[in-house]
Amino acid sequence: MKEPIRLRLVNYAALAICSMLIFLVYAALFQSNDTVFDSWGYSLPNSSCNLSSERTNVDAVDPQEFLLRRLVRGDDRVELDSNGFSCHTDVHSEVCVENKAVRIYNKGLTVYVPYDHQPQPQVKRIVKPYARQQDETAMRVVSPVQILHGNNTINPPPPCNFTHNVPAVVFSSKGFAGNVFHEFNEMIIPLFITTRHFRSRVKFVITDYQHWWVQKYNRVLSHLSESDVINPDDGSVHCFPGAVVGLKYHDHLALNVTDIPGGYSMFDFRQFLKESYSLKTNHVSEIRKPVLMLISRRNTRRFLNEDEIVEMMEGVGFQVIRVEPERMSNLDEFAEVVNSCSVMVGAHGAGLTNEIFLPNGAVMVQVVPLACDWVATYLYGAPGKPMGVRYLEYKIEPEESSLFDKYGKDHPVITDPESVTSKGYSAYRTVYVEGQDLMINVERFKNTLIEAKQILEASVPFNR
Ligand SMILES: *[C@@H]1O[C@H](CO)[C@@H](O)[C@H](O)[C@H]1NC(C)=O
Ligand SMILES: *[C@@H]1O[C@H](CO)[C@@H](O)[C@H](O)[C@H]1NC(C)=O
Ligand SMILES: *[C@@H]1O[C@H](CO)[C@@H](O)[C@H](O)[C@H]1NC(C)=O
Ligand SMILES: *[C@@H]1O[C@H](CO)[C@@H](O)[C@H](O)[C@H]1NC(C)=O
Ligand SMILES: *[C@@H]1O[C@H](CO)[C@@H](O)[C@H](O)[C@H]1NC(C)=O
Repeated sequence: MKEPIRLRLVNYAALAICSMLIFLVYAALFQSNDTVFDSWGYSLPNSSCNLSSERTNVDAVDPQEFLLRRLVRGDDRVELDSNGFSCHTDVHSEVCVENKAVRIYNKGLTVYVPYDHQPQPQVKRIVKPYARQQDETAMRVVSPVQILHGNNTINPPPPCNFTHNVPAVVFSSKGFAGNVFHEFNEMIIPLFITTRHFRSRVKFVITDYQHWWVQKYNRVLSHLSESDVINPDDGSVHCFPGAVVGLKYHDHLALNVTDIPGGYSMFDFRQFLKESYSLKTNHVSEIRKPVLMLISRRNTRRFLNEDEIVEMMEGVGFQVIRVEPERMSNLDEFAEVVNSCSVMVGAHGAGLTNEIFLPNGAVMVQVVPLACDWVATYLYGAPGKPMGVRYLEYKIEPEESSLFDKYGKDHPVITDPESVTSKGYSAYRTVYVEGQDLMINVERFKNTLIEAKQILEASVPFNR
């Protein structure tokens, strides 16, 4: 993981908003709708692109405009109300909301937003719709989406091939897709944060379209949106009554309940996963004999004495399921397997993200390699708590690291990891993240597993 810096999202506007006021403002907006879409002012080659008739399809009870507005606050909302368009940028993500008819074309990479009341010159805004703006490596492979706002006489948008009656949400399926931590952290959770409150009345337009990714997360996508995702690569032009470009991001594997339009929490997200994947186990107490999932790694941070570890775990009283990376790629099946376990054990690594499917009251045991303490706790330890998962750490001793044999006990790699870390992330990564395997002292490790077992025995189901 490449996350050495603790960063806080800033710029949140004040929270408390009287719902009465929202409705008053909304009512005022709705009345002025007739003029809003006249602003296209250009003859439309295809009558199915009659934007004023699109507007009349808007459901008056659960208006999309209202739902789109909830994604922005403060000045951004004022701007959205006056321009029909506003963007919010923070450290991790950039999100633009268009609260009026848009046309999406050029493989999803151009979004045309008409101007409002007053004719304006065209303004171009470039957004990379992936929630890791601070990370150059991730962003390099994310295609920029240009949003054209205003005068379209220079580059008039092509006519619509398809006209939709719900808003579009545009995001990239590249970035760090391929690593399950990043898939949940920057894609799936942000997608939930951004779109859950639409109650499926949205369509996803996926740029940098990767079919395997769409297939892998098919259940999540189909539970967040009423229809199939749109792959705009065929050159088709899609018209929508509004759009969101980019996804909102909060924190590592986290949702901030006070900053989500529907007020959803990690509890709600897990409930959503439970429905999407038909997960049956709600609480560990429903599992009769405790089942332990041991995540087996292939390349780095391997357990060198895995058989011995499994034997010890069985001795403690667990039924052990060993899983290898390939097994995790079929998420539809794997989520159910995780959900049937009481304990998950693994060395620090992306596979631990699957803790998100564990039942309430389950225990996650992270084996922390040398010099990985902080990043381990930060990435997988802290996020477990809101998931209702108990977290235990087993920090290895230097003798349990393959680096001990490789460098010798007096080498700075062992005695002074800071001297390596201070040379930068790449040096750190080569030595500790990619260059380290683990020879676990099973006698010592046994204590952690006994503790896990005791936690399970003491855990009482709670109902929410
Ligand atoms: C959650 O969001 C609120 C309001 O936007 C903010 O004040 C608060 O600090 C955030 N909490 C965390 C844990 O980031
Ligand atoms: C567009 O729709 C409006 C309202 O339904 C209708 O009055 C108008 O004639 C339509 N325009 C075209 C060009 O179809
Ligand atoms: C739109 O752009 C064209 C070409 O630059 C210009 O002639 C026209 O005046 C502009 N219209 C508005 C309303 O800004
Ligand atoms: C307009 O677009 C619709 C939907 O793509 C298509 O079915 C229709 O034939 C088009 N009409 C014309 C006049 O091009
Ligand atoms: C979209 O419509 C245009 C004409 O308006 C047509 O030339 C093009 O083939 C259509 N593309 C798709 C993918 O349907």
